[in-house]
Parts: sequence; structure tokens; C-alpha cells
Amino acid sequence: MQRTYKAVEVSSPGVLRVVERQISEPGPGQVRIRVEACGICHTDAATITGAYPGLALPRVPGHEVVGRIEALGSGVSRWKIGQRVGVGLIAGEDGVCQPCRRGDMVNCQNPVVSGVTVDGGYAEVMIAEARGIASIPDELNSVDAAPLLCAGITTYNALRNAGLRGGDLVAVQGIGGLGHLGVQFARRLGFHTVAIGRGGDKGRLAKDLGAHVHIDTAVDDAVAVLQRMGGARAILATAPSGDSMGPLVSGLAVRGKLIVVGVPQDQIQLSAFPLVFGGRSVYGSLTGTAIEQEDTLAFSVLENIRPMIETAPLEEAADAYARMMQGKARFRMVLVMKNA
Ligand SMILES: NC(=O)c1ccc[n+]([C@@H]2O[C@H](COP(=O)([O-])OP(=O)(O)OC[C@H]3O[C@@H](n4cnc5c(N)ncnc54)[C@H](OP(=O)(O)O)[C@@H]3O)[C@@H](O)[C@H]2O)c1
Ligand SMILES: [Zn+2]
Ligand SMILES: [Zn+2]
Repeated sequence: MQRTYKAVEVSSPGVLRVVERQISEPGPGQVRIRVEACGICHTDAATITGAYPGLALPRVPGHEVVGRIEALGSGVSRWKIGQRVGVGLIAGEDGVCQPCRRGDMVNCQNPVVSGVTVDGGYAEVMIAEARGIASIPDELNSVDAAPLLCAGITTYNALRNAGLRGGDLVAVQGIGGLGHLGVQFARRLGFHTVAIGRGGDKGRLAKDLGAHVHIDTAVDDAVAVLQRMGGARAILATAPSGDSMGPLVSGLAVRGKLIVVGVPQDQIQLSAFPLVFGGRSVYGSLTGTAIEQEDTLAFSVLENIRPMIETAPLEEAADAYARMMQGKARFRMVLVMKNA
């Protein structure tokens, strides 16, 4: 058997380089995966720029990983060699911290974070914690399943956990990797769906994805349009820009919620008036757990939701990442390995 594999690592901040690494055996409770596909999420920037708190380089980024199990560590009984599985961002809770003890695993205070605390999926091989992986249904091919493991679950969980009802007016801000899936989920969950983006060229695509209404903020004031429609019950904010999120609170209906899933570098400025007068709220939502990934995949199969993707070979990870950062991807870049 081949003893080495190709990976793309962040060797120093901003530098992605192709390296050859030794294959290692999975430890107790772990599996080794032959990676077939890995999506490029905007959160990878936190690894690639070196900004993620506590990050040590070199590190292989990537947390939208799909592949087949090729080796099992001791004590792993639930999974089989050859089974197709996925790995997301939060890929193993410690089981002992307060949130874990209360059953809130996604908010574990000491989690395994793919591409941050351990090497991720920009590689032909990845070691993962068996407790943190999800089963991939046969109906989904690997390149389509990959983006559902972060962009998909993040938007699906945020929307389905927001206490909304069928027919509610729901807006998705930022039509990128997360947003283009958020629009599809909002529509298929039965909401009156509005897509908020910055350019006219995405209008047609937003409608194709299921948006009833597309607001181009280069032309229209999103708050005014939403208020004319009666105000949104929820706005799912995916843009990596705090500046663009804060004013959206005024586009909410009374008791509406701004759900923050984008993680901008800049601050979100808020006016107290729409929060206090009308009981509006702002809160964050962090991706989800392995079993919730399986929910996301199952709902996507059920409702025929697929990411819109562009693929690139693993060796071209740096270019693919740059394309995502420049906002050129339609809508998710997915790295494809030779194993696929
Ligand atoms: N909460 C979580 O668990 C979680 C999970 C994954 C990612 N994230 C975060 O979510 C954010 C989005 O990730 P992504 O992978 O979807 O990124 P992406 O593919 O780059 O998409 C972001 C979209 O936001 C819009 N946007 C970008 N810059 C903007 C600006 N300055 N003002 C207004 N809109 C802007 C753009 O859409 P338009 O062209 O339509 O305006 C862009 O397509 C990132 O901050 C990422 O770290 C969070
Ligand atoms: Zn992500
Ligand atoms: Zn924990």
C-alpha cells in the first residue's frame, strides 16, 4: 500500500502549499478516510490567514469533507471499512464540559475542530473522530454532499431552529456558499423567501434557487423593501461583513430575529430602538452536530436540494480558495481528489 498522501497545508499565514505526508494509523476511536471531495468554506480563511485563536501551523484546512473509511481505530464499532462518510467543522465533543453535560454538543468548550485543532480535508487522507462523522446517503454524490456538511447544515439548522411557521417572511442575506443553500432551505421549509445580495447578476440565480423575491442592495434599500412586505420574521445573515448586518434589524417585523451565521472581522453596529420597540432580537448560530448533518443530507435528498458548485483538483486549492475569497465562485468551490 502507498505510504504517503498528498495534502495542501497552510505552512505560514497566507501560504497554501502542496506537500507529501506519511500515512498514519487511526488512534482509538478514530477512522482514516480516503477523501473524495472537500468544499472550500469562507471560514477556512481563519486557518489560512492564521487568525483562528490558538491555531498552530502547519495545518491542513477543510471541514466539508466526504470520503470512504479505509481504516478503523480500536473501539470503533459503528462504522465499516468502505463506508462513505462526511466530516464537518465541529467534529468531536469532549463530553465533559458544561454544554456537553447539558446535551449542547455543538457548543462544546473543547471541541475537535477540523482544519483548526486537527488537519482537515484539503488532502487525500484525513483522520477523524468516529463520534464526529456522518453517514452519506447513496442518493448524493460526494461533490454535492460536501458543501452540505458546513454551508448546508449551518443554514438548515439556523432556519429550522428559529421557531418560524410556514408562510413566514424569511430573508437570507449574502448569496454565497451559505446563502445559496439558505435560500433553497428557506423555500423548501415553506417560507416566503427573500434573497438579499449586492449585485444584479445574482438575481436570476436567486430566483432559480427558489427565492420569491430578490433584493439587489446596489439598487434597492433592503430595509425599505422588507418593511413594505410587512417585515421579516427572520433574517439569516451570512455575509462576512458586520457593517452590512446591523442595519437589517430595522427590516424585521415585531419580534423578528436577526440570525447571525456569518462571522465578519468587523463589528456589528446596532441601534437599540428597533430592538426595544418591537422586541426584536439578534443571536448567533454555530453549524451543527454529526447527527444534524445526517438530518441536513436527508432533507436535501427529500426536497432535491443540491449546492451549485465549481470543482477544482486538490493541487489547485490555492487558486480555488482565492476565487471564493474574491466572491467569484458560483456558489461553492469543491476540491476533488484523485480517489473520487
Ligand atoms: N455560523 C457558522 O457555523 C458558519 C459556518 C460556515 C461559515 N460561516 C461564516 O459565514 C460567512 C459566509 O461564508 P460563505 O462560505 O458563505 O462565504 P462566501 O461563499 O464568500 O459568501 C459570502 C457572501 O456574502 C456576501 N458578501 C461578501 N462580502 C460582503 C460585504 N462586504 N457586504 C455585504 N455582503 C457581502 C456575498 O454575497 P452577495 O454577492 O450576494 O452580496 C458573498 O457571496 C463567513 O463569515 C463564514 O466564516 C459561519
Ligand atoms: Zn464552514
Ligand atoms: Zn464539551
